[in-house]
Amino acid sequence: MTTAVAGRTAHHVRDLSLAPAGKLKIEWADASMPVLSRIRERFEKEKPLAGVRLSACLHVTTETANLARTLAAAGADLLLCASNPLSTQDDAAASLVADYGVAVYAIKGEDHSTYYDHIRAALAHRPNLTMDDGADLVSTLLFLALGKDSDVDPVIRQWAAALAAEDRASLLEGVLGGTEETTTGVVRLRAMEGAGVLKFPVVAVNEAKTKHFFDNRYGTGQSTMDGIVRATNLLIAGTNVVVAGYGWCGRGVAMRARGLGGHVIVTEIDSTKAIEAALDGYRVLPMEEAARIGDLFVTVTGNKSVLRDEHFRVMKDGAVVCNSGHFNVEIEIPALEALARSRRRTREFVEEFTLADGRRIHLLAEGRLINLAAAEGHPASVMDMSFANQALAAEYMVKNHSSLEKRVYPVPEEIDREIARLKLASMGIRIDVPTAAQETYMTSWEEGT
Ligand code: ADE
Repeated sequence: MTTAVAGRTAHHVRDLSLAPAGKLKIEWADASMPVLSRIRERFEKEKPLAGVRLSACLHVTTETANLARTLAAAGADLLLCASNPLSTQDDAAASLVADYGVAVYAIKGEDHSTYYDHIRAALAHRPNLTMDDGADLVSTLLFLALGKDSDVDPVIRQWAAALAAEDRASLLEGVLGGTEETTTGVVRLRAMEGAGVLKFPVVAVNEAKTKHFFDNRYGTGQSTMDGIVRATNLLIAGTNVVVAGYGWCGRGVAMRARGLGGHVIVTEIDSTKAIEAALDGYRVLPMEEAARIGDLFVTVTGNKSVLRDEHFRVMKDGAVVCNSGHFNVEIEIPALEALARSRRRTREFVEEFTLADGRRIHLLAEGRLINLAAAEGHPASVMDMSFANQALAAEYMVKNHSSLEKRVYPVPEEIDREIARLKLASMGIRIDVPTAAQETYMTSWEEGT
Protein backbone atom coordinates (compact mmCIF):
# COMPACT_ATOMS: atom_id res chain seq x y z
CA MET A 1 0.00 0.00 0.00
CA THR A 2 2.71 2.39 1.09
CA THR A 3 4.77 1.98 -2.08
CA ALA A 4 1.71 2.13 -4.33
CA VAL A 5 0.55 5.44 -2.82
CA ALA A 6 4.07 6.88 -2.91
CA GLY A 7 4.39 5.85 -6.54
CA ARG A 8 1.35 7.94 -7.42
CA THR A 9 2.31 10.93 -5.29
CA ALA A 10 4.78 13.60 -6.39
CA HIS A 11 7.44 14.08 -3.74
CA HIS A 12 10.99 14.94 -2.78
CA VAL A 13 11.63 13.64 0.71
CA ARG A 14 14.64 12.11 2.48
CA ASP A 15 13.64 8.44 2.67
CA LEU A 16 10.25 6.78 2.28
CA SER A 17 11.30 3.91 4.52
CA LEU A 18 10.95 6.36 7.45
CA ALA A 19 7.17 6.38 6.85
CA PRO A 20 6.12 3.78 9.49
CA ALA A 21 7.94 5.69 12.27
CA GLY A 22 6.46 8.95 10.95
CA LYS A 23 2.95 7.55 10.91
CA LEU A 24 3.15 6.54 14.58
CA LYS A 25 4.34 10.03 15.51
CA ILE A 26 1.63 11.68 13.44
CA GLU A 27 -0.97 9.58 15.26
CA TRP A 28 0.66 10.46 18.60
CA ALA A 29 0.37 14.17 17.78
CA ASP A 30 -3.20 13.71 16.56
CA ALA A 31 -4.25 12.48 20.00
CA SER A 32 -3.43 15.98 21.32
CA MET A 33 -5.23 17.75 18.47
CA PRO A 34 -8.93 17.19 19.21
CA VAL A 35 -10.16 20.44 17.69
CA LEU A 36 -8.42 19.78 14.40
CA SER A 37 -9.72 16.17 14.42
CA ARG A 38 -13.26 17.44 14.76
CA ILE A 39 -12.80 19.83 11.90
CA ARG A 40 -11.34 16.98 9.84
CA GLU A 41 -14.44 14.85 10.48
CA ARG A 42 -16.70 17.64 9.27
CA PHE A 43 -14.46 18.40 6.27
CA GLU A 44 -14.58 14.74 5.28
CA LYS A 45 -18.37 14.98 4.95
CA GLU A 46 -18.71 18.50 3.53
CA LYS A 47 -15.60 18.70 1.31
CA PRO A 48 -15.33 22.51 1.53
CA LEU A 49 -12.05 22.58 -0.40
CA ALA A 50 -13.12 20.26 -3.22
CA GLY A 51 -11.35 21.16 -6.44
CA VAL A 52 -9.06 23.68 -4.73
CA ARG A 53 -5.35 23.43 -5.52
CA LEU A 54 -3.62 24.37 -2.32
CA SER A 55 0.12 24.99 -1.93
CA ALA A 56 1.25 25.08 1.68
CA CYS A 57 4.72 26.26 2.70
CA LEU A 58 4.93 25.25 6.37
CA HIS A 59 7.28 23.59 8.83
CA VAL A 60 6.84 19.94 7.91
CA THR A 61 6.22 18.36 11.31
CA THR A 62 3.88 15.74 12.71
CA GLU A 63 1.45 18.52 13.65
CA THR A 64 1.53 19.93 10.14
CA ALA A 65 0.92 16.41 8.89
CA ASN A 66 -2.38 16.43 10.76
CA LEU A 67 -3.27 19.76 9.21
CA ALA A 68 -2.37 18.31 5.79
CA ARG A 69 -4.64 15.32 6.46
CA THR A 70 -7.42 17.75 7.33
CA LEU A 71 -6.98 19.80 4.16
CA ALA A 72 -6.82 16.64 2.05
CA ALA A 73 -9.98 15.34 3.79
CA ALA A 74 -11.66 18.61 2.77
CA GLY A 75 -10.99 17.71 -0.86
CA ALA A 76 -8.00 19.99 -1.48
CA ASP A 77 -5.42 18.99 -4.06
CA LEU A 78 -2.55 19.67 -1.68
CA LEU A 79 1.18 20.21 -2.12
CA LEU A 80 3.30 20.82 0.97
CA CYS A 81 6.80 22.29 0.94
CA ALA A 82 9.14 23.32 3.76
CA SER A 83 9.09 26.85 5.14
CA ASN A 84 12.56 26.44 6.62
CA PRO A 85 15.51 24.31 5.52
CA LEU A 86 16.12 22.85 8.99
CA SER A 87 12.64 22.30 10.42
CA THR A 88 11.47 19.26 8.43
CA GLN A 89 10.82 16.02 10.26
CA ASP A 90 11.87 13.52 7.58
CA ASP A 91 9.77 10.69 9.01
CA ALA A 92 6.59 12.80 9.03
CA ALA A 93 7.32 13.92 5.45
CA ALA A 94 7.77 10.29 4.34
CA SER A 95 4.55 9.17 5.98
CA LEU A 96 2.55 11.99 4.44
CA VAL A 97 3.64 10.79 1.01
CA ALA A 98 3.48 7.06 1.59
CA ASP A 99 0.51 6.71 3.93
CA TYR A 100 -1.62 9.74 3.16
CA GLY A 101 -0.86 10.42 -0.51
CA VAL A 102 0.12 14.07 0.10
CA ALA A 103 2.69 15.58 -2.27
CA VAL A 104 5.59 16.74 -0.07
CA TYR A 105 8.78 18.59 -0.98
CA ALA A 106 10.89 18.88 2.15
CA ILE A 107 14.16 17.44 3.41
CA LYS A 108 15.75 18.37 6.73
CA GLY A 109 19.03 20.18 6.05
CA GLU A 110 18.20 20.95 2.40
CA ASP A 111 20.50 23.55 0.87
CA HIS A 112 19.40 26.98 -0.31
CA SER A 113 18.74 25.98 -3.92
CA THR A 114 16.83 22.83 -2.92
CA TYR A 115 14.73 24.97 -0.57
CA TYR A 116 13.82 27.19 -3.50
CA ASP A 117 13.36 24.26 -5.83
CA HIS A 118 10.69 23.08 -3.38
CA ILE A 119 9.05 26.51 -3.44
CA ARG A 120 9.20 26.29 -7.23
CA ALA A 121 7.31 22.98 -7.05
CA ALA A 122 4.69 24.66 -4.85
CA LEU A 123 4.25 27.44 -7.43
CA ALA A 124 4.23 24.98 -10.32
CA HIS A 125 1.30 23.31 -8.55
CA ARG A 126 -0.57 26.48 -9.61
CA PRO A 127 -2.32 27.06 -6.34
CA ASN A 128 -5.75 28.61 -5.94
CA LEU A 129 -4.95 28.99 -2.28
CA THR A 130 -1.60 29.65 -0.60
CA MET A 131 -0.76 28.78 2.98
CA ASP A 132 2.46 30.30 4.27
CA ASP A 133 4.57 30.36 7.41
CA GLY A 134 6.82 33.36 6.89
CA ALA A 135 5.41 34.47 3.50
CA ASP A 136 8.13 32.96 1.30
CA LEU A 137 5.57 31.51 -1.09
CA VAL A 138 3.57 34.71 -1.50
CA SER A 139 6.64 36.93 -1.73
CA THR A 140 8.23 34.72 -4.40
CA LEU A 141 4.98 34.76 -6.34
CA LEU A 142 4.81 38.51 -6.00
CA PHE A 143 8.37 39.09 -7.19
CA LEU A 144 7.48 37.12 -10.32
CA ALA A 145 4.21 39.01 -10.78
CA LEU A 146 6.04 42.34 -10.53
CA GLY A 147 8.74 41.18 -12.93
CA LYS A 148 11.38 41.49 -10.19
CA ASP A 149 13.11 38.34 -11.34
CA SER A 150 16.48 39.56 -10.15
CA ASP A 151 15.18 39.41 -6.55
CA VAL A 152 14.28 35.70 -6.62
CA ASP A 153 16.54 32.72 -6.19
CA PRO A 154 18.20 31.56 -9.46
CA VAL A 155 16.22 28.28 -9.33
CA ILE A 156 12.95 30.23 -9.46
CA ARG A 157 14.34 32.70 -11.99
CA GLN A 158 15.30 29.99 -14.46
CA TRP A 159 11.97 28.23 -14.08
CA ALA A 160 10.02 31.48 -14.57
CA ALA A 161 12.13 32.45 -17.57
CA ALA A 162 11.07 29.24 -19.29
CA LEU A 163 7.35 29.95 -18.79
CA ALA A 164 5.35 31.47 -21.61
CA ALA A 165 4.09 34.99 -20.77
CA GLU A 166 0.45 33.93 -20.48
CA ASP A 167 1.45 30.97 -18.34
CA ARG A 168 3.26 33.29 -16.01
CA ALA A 169 0.31 35.68 -15.77
CA SER A 170 -2.07 32.80 -15.09
CA LEU A 171 0.08 31.74 -12.12
CA LEU A 172 -1.14 34.76 -10.23
CA GLU A 173 -4.61 35.00 -11.70
CA GLY A 174 -5.39 31.52 -10.38
CA VAL A 175 -4.84 32.51 -6.76
CA LEU A 176 -8.06 33.29 -4.86
CA GLY A 177 -6.38 34.04 -1.57
CA GLY A 178 -4.00 32.88 1.10
CA THR A 179 -3.40 32.38 4.77
CA GLU A 180 -0.35 33.25 6.85
CA GLU A 181 0.75 31.52 10.05
CA THR A 182 3.36 33.69 11.72
CA THR A 183 4.21 37.18 13.01
CA THR A 184 7.07 37.68 10.54
CA GLY A 185 4.90 36.65 7.60
CA VAL A 186 2.13 39.03 8.66
CA VAL A 187 4.66 41.89 8.92
CA ARG A 188 5.83 41.15 5.36
CA LEU A 189 2.25 40.93 4.07
CA ARG A 190 1.28 44.22 5.68
CA ALA A 191 4.33 45.79 4.01
CA MET A 192 3.05 44.41 0.67
CA GLU A 193 -0.41 45.78 1.37
CA GLY A 194 1.07 49.16 2.35
CA ALA A 195 3.09 49.27 -0.87
CA GLY A 196 -0.06 48.44 -2.84
CA VAL A 197 1.43 45.27 -4.32
CA LEU A 198 -0.53 42.55 -2.54
CA LYS A 199 -2.41 40.73 -5.29
CA PHE A 200 -5.01 38.75 -3.31
CA PRO A 201 -6.59 38.67 0.15
CA VAL A 202 -4.71 36.90 2.94
CA VAL A 203 -5.98 35.86 6.36
CA ALA A 204 -3.48 36.54 9.15
CA VAL A 205 -3.90 33.41 11.25
CA ASN A 206 -1.28 34.71 13.68
CA GLU A 207 -3.66 37.43 14.83
CA ALA A 208 -6.31 35.05 16.13
CA LYS A 209 -6.27 35.03 19.94
CA THR A 210 -6.37 31.24 19.90
CA LYS A 211 -3.15 31.37 17.89
CA HIS A 212 -0.71 33.90 19.30
CA PHE A 213 -1.75 33.74 22.97
CA PHE A 214 -0.88 30.06 23.06
CA ASP A 215 1.35 29.05 20.14
CA ASN A 216 3.66 32.07 20.31
CA ARG A 217 3.82 32.19 24.10
CA TYR A 218 3.51 28.67 25.50
CA GLY A 219 4.59 26.87 22.33
CA THR A 220 7.68 28.97 21.66
CA GLY A 221 8.46 29.20 25.37
CA GLN A 222 8.58 25.46 25.91
CA SER A 223 9.98 24.34 22.55
CA THR A 224 12.76 26.94 22.55
CA MET A 225 14.08 25.83 25.93
CA ASP A 226 13.59 22.22 24.79
CA GLY A 227 15.69 22.88 21.67
CA ILE A 228 18.45 24.62 23.64
CA VAL A 229 18.62 21.83 26.20
CA ARG A 230 18.56 19.07 23.57
CA ALA A 231 21.28 20.85 21.55
CA THR A 232 23.59 21.57 24.48
CA ASN A 233 22.50 19.65 27.59
CA LEU A 234 23.46 22.79 29.54
CA LEU A 235 22.04 23.54 32.99
CA ILE A 236 19.98 26.71 32.75
CA ALA A 237 19.68 27.25 36.51
CA GLY A 238 21.95 30.01 37.74
CA THR A 239 22.88 31.27 34.27
CA ASN A 240 22.19 34.69 32.76
CA VAL A 241 19.69 34.19 29.94
CA VAL A 242 19.31 37.19 27.63
CA VAL A 243 16.00 37.21 25.76
CA ALA A 244 15.98 39.69 22.89
CA GLY A 245 12.41 40.80 22.17
CA TYR A 246 9.39 40.77 24.47
CA GLY A 247 6.59 40.05 22.04
CA TRP A 248 4.42 36.98 22.61
CA CYS A 249 7.32 34.64 21.82
CA GLY A 250 9.77 36.53 24.01
CA ARG A 251 7.31 36.54 26.91
CA GLY A 252 7.08 32.76 26.62
CA VAL A 253 10.82 32.18 26.38
CA ALA A 254 11.54 34.50 29.33
CA MET A 255 8.87 32.78 31.45
CA ARG A 256 10.21 29.28 30.77
CA ALA A 257 13.88 30.30 31.11
CA ARG A 258 13.01 31.72 34.53
CA GLY A 259 11.13 28.52 35.33
CA LEU A 260 14.35 26.59 34.76
CA GLY A 261 16.19 28.84 37.20
CA GLY A 262 17.79 31.27 34.75
CA HIS A 263 18.39 34.92 35.64
CA VAL A 264 16.51 36.46 32.76
CA ILE A 265 17.50 39.75 31.13
CA VAL A 266 15.22 41.21 28.47
CA THR A 267 16.26 43.58 25.69
CA GLU A 268 13.66 45.62 23.79
CA ILE A 269 13.27 48.53 21.39
CA ASP A 270 9.64 49.18 22.36
CA SER A 271 9.05 51.24 25.52
CA THR A 272 5.72 49.63 26.43
CA LYS A 273 7.05 46.12 26.10
CA ALA A 274 10.11 47.10 28.12
CA ILE A 275 7.85 48.34 30.95
CA GLU A 276 5.92 45.08 30.79
CA ALA A 277 9.13 43.05 31.01
CA ALA A 278 10.32 45.15 33.95
CA LEU A 279 6.98 44.77 35.77
CA ASP A 280 7.01 41.05 35.05
CA GLY A 281 10.16 41.04 37.16
CA TYR A 282 12.92 40.83 34.56
CA ARG A 283 16.00 42.97 34.31
CA VAL A 284 15.81 45.15 31.19
CA LEU A 285 19.06 46.28 29.59
CA PRO A 286 20.31 47.51 26.24
CA MET A 287 22.07 44.72 24.36
CA GLU A 288 25.43 46.45 24.61
CA GLU A 289 25.29 45.85 28.39
CA ALA A 290 23.50 42.51 28.29
CA ALA A 291 26.10 41.19 25.82
CA ARG A 292 28.80 41.47 28.52
CA ILE A 293 26.99 39.40 31.12
CA GLY A 294 24.87 36.87 29.23
CA ASP A 295 25.66 33.16 29.28
CA LEU A 296 22.87 32.26 26.87
CA PHE A 297 21.29 34.55 24.27
CA VAL A 298 17.95 33.87 22.58
CA THR A 299 16.73 36.20 19.83
CA VAL A 300 12.97 36.38 19.22
CA THR A 301 12.52 39.85 17.79
CA GLY A 302 11.55 39.31 14.14
CA ASN A 303 14.19 41.90 13.26
CA LYS A 304 17.67 41.57 11.81
CA SER A 305 21.21 41.99 13.24
CA VAL A 306 20.06 41.91 16.86
CA LEU A 307 23.34 40.25 17.84
CA ARG A 308 26.18 41.74 15.81
CA ASP A 309 29.89 42.51 15.73
CA GLU A 310 29.91 44.97 18.65
CA HIS A 311 28.14 42.39 20.84
CA PHE A 312 30.30 39.39 19.92
CA ARG A 313 33.35 41.48 20.74
CA VAL A 314 32.34 41.82 24.41
CA MET A 315 30.68 38.45 25.10
CA LYS A 316 32.04 36.14 27.78
CA ASP A 317 34.09 33.09 26.87
CA GLY A 318 31.65 30.21 26.38
CA ALA A 319 28.59 32.33 25.54
CA VAL A 320 25.87 30.42 23.70
CA VAL A 321 23.83 32.24 21.06
CA CYS A 322 20.68 31.03 19.34
CA ASN A 323 17.58 32.26 17.58
CA SER A 324 13.92 31.34 17.79
CA GLY A 325 12.61 34.03 15.46
CA HIS A 326 11.41 33.06 11.99
CA PHE A 327 14.47 34.00 9.92
CA ASN A 328 18.15 33.40 10.57
CA VAL A 329 18.98 37.09 10.25
CA GLU A 330 18.62 37.99 13.93
CA ILE A 331 22.19 36.84 14.63
CA GLU A 332 24.66 38.42 12.22
CA ILE A 333 26.55 35.24 11.45
CA PRO A 334 28.91 36.80 8.86
CA ALA A 335 30.13 39.17 11.60
CA LEU A 336 30.82 36.23 13.90
CA GLU A 337 32.60 34.42 11.08
CA ALA A 338 34.71 37.49 10.37
CA LEU A 339 35.78 37.76 14.03
CA ALA A 340 36.64 34.07 14.35
CA ARG A 341 40.12 32.70 13.88
CA SER A 342 38.73 29.16 13.78
CA ARG A 343 35.48 27.24 13.98
CA ARG A 344 34.46 23.66 14.54
CA ARG A 345 31.30 21.61 15.05
CA THR A 346 31.28 20.29 18.59
CA ARG A 347 27.81 18.71 18.73
CA GLU A 348 25.09 18.11 16.15
CA PHE A 349 23.60 21.58 16.55
CA VAL A 350 26.55 23.43 18.11
CA GLU A 351 29.28 25.30 16.26
CA GLU A 352 32.14 26.78 18.27
CA PHE A 353 33.73 30.00 17.01
CA THR A 354 37.09 30.90 18.54
CA LEU A 355 37.88 34.60 18.39
CA ALA A 356 41.35 36.14 18.02
CA ASP A 357 41.79 36.49 21.81
CA GLY A 358 40.79 32.87 22.43
CA ARG A 359 37.18 33.50 23.61
CA ARG A 360 34.71 30.95 22.33
CA ILE A 361 31.16 31.67 21.20
CA HIS A 362 28.82 28.75 20.51
CA LEU A 363 26.24 29.22 17.77
CA LEU A 364 23.29 26.83 17.80
CA ALA A 365 21.59 25.42 14.68
CA GLU A 366 23.21 27.89 12.27
CA GLY A 367 21.06 30.62 13.78
CA ARG A 368 17.88 28.97 12.53
CA LEU A 369 14.81 28.40 14.66
CA ILE A 370 16.29 26.42 17.55
CA ASN A 371 12.93 24.97 18.59
CA LEU A 372 12.31 23.33 15.23
CA ALA A 373 15.92 22.56 14.31
CA ALA A 374 17.04 20.86 17.52
CA ALA A 375 13.67 19.91 19.03
CA GLU A 376 10.26 19.17 17.51
CA GLY A 377 8.67 22.61 17.42
CA HIS A 378 5.62 23.48 19.45
CA PRO A 379 3.75 20.65 21.12
CA ALA A 380 0.69 19.32 19.32
CA SER A 381 -1.74 20.66 21.90
CA VAL A 382 -1.02 24.29 20.97
CA MET A 383 -0.65 23.57 17.27
CA ASP A 384 -4.18 22.14 17.54
CA MET A 385 -5.53 25.68 17.89
CA SER A 386 -3.13 27.25 15.37
CA PHE A 387 -3.96 24.69 12.71
CA ALA A 388 -7.69 24.71 13.48
CA ASN A 389 -7.42 28.41 12.59
CA GLN A 390 -5.53 27.53 9.39
CA ALA A 391 -8.10 24.95 8.33
CA LEU A 392 -11.08 27.21 9.04
CA ALA A 393 -9.35 30.23 7.49
CA ALA A 394 -8.82 28.21 4.29
CA GLU A 395 -12.51 27.29 4.24
CA TYR A 396 -13.44 30.93 4.92
CA MET A 397 -11.20 32.15 2.10
CA VAL A 398 -12.70 29.73 -0.42
CA LYS A 399 -16.23 30.78 0.55
CA ASN A 400 -15.60 34.53 0.76
CA HIS A 401 -12.72 35.45 -1.55
CA SER A 402 -14.93 37.20 -4.07
CA SER A 403 -16.13 39.74 -1.50
CA LEU A 404 -12.66 40.41 -0.08
CA GLU A 405 -10.16 43.04 -1.20
CA LYS A 406 -6.43 42.62 -1.76
CA ARG A 407 -5.73 43.11 1.91
CA VAL A 408 -4.62 41.34 5.05
CA TYR A 409 -7.65 40.19 7.08
CA PRO A 410 -7.95 38.93 10.64
CA VAL A 411 -9.45 35.51 11.34
CA PRO A 412 -13.19 36.19 11.81
CA GLU A 413 -14.00 36.47 15.50
CA GLU A 414 -16.65 33.73 15.36
CA ILE A 415 -13.99 31.28 14.21
CA ASP A 416 -11.58 32.33 16.95
CA ARG A 417 -14.31 32.04 19.61
CA GLU A 418 -15.51 28.66 18.36
CA ILE A 419 -11.96 27.26 18.45
CA ALA A 420 -11.58 28.50 22.04
CA ARG A 421 -14.89 26.91 23.00
CA LEU A 422 -13.99 23.56 21.46
CA LYS A 423 -10.48 23.56 22.97
CA LEU A 424 -11.77 24.36 26.42
CA ALA A 425 -14.38 21.59 26.17
CA SER A 426 -11.67 19.14 25.05
CA MET A 427 -9.69 20.08 28.18
CA GLY A 428 -12.71 19.22 30.32
CA ILE A 429 -12.94 22.76 31.66
CA ARG A 430 -16.36 24.31 32.26
CA ILE A 431 -16.92 28.03 32.69
CA ASP A 432 -19.80 30.22 33.84
CA VAL A 433 -22.57 31.53 31.63
CA PRO A 434 -23.69 35.11 32.31
CA THR A 435 -27.21 35.48 33.68
CA ALA A 436 -29.80 37.45 31.69
CA ALA A 437 -29.38 40.34 34.16
CA GLN A 438 -25.61 40.28 33.66
CA GLU A 439 -26.03 40.32 29.86
CA THR A 440 -28.28 43.36 30.16
CA TYR A 441 -25.86 45.08 32.53
CA MET A 442 -22.96 44.57 30.14
CA THR A 443 -24.84 46.03 27.20
CA SER A 444 -26.42 49.05 28.88
CA TRP A 445 -25.05 52.38 30.03
CA GLU A 446 -28.00 53.49 32.19
CA GLU A 447 -27.52 50.86 34.88
CA GLY A 448 -24.58 52.30 36.76
CA THR A 449 -25.56 52.27 40.41
N1 ADE B 1 5.82 26.10 14.29
C1 ADE B 1 6.26 25.93 15.55
N2 ADE B 1 6.07 24.68 15.97
C2 ADE B 1 5.51 24.00 14.95
C3 ADE B 1 5.08 22.67 14.78
N3 ADE B 1 5.19 21.77 15.74
N4 ADE B 1 4.56 22.35 13.60
C4 ADE B 1 4.44 23.26 12.63
N5 ADE B 1 4.81 24.52 12.72
C5 ADE B 1 5.34 24.91 13.88
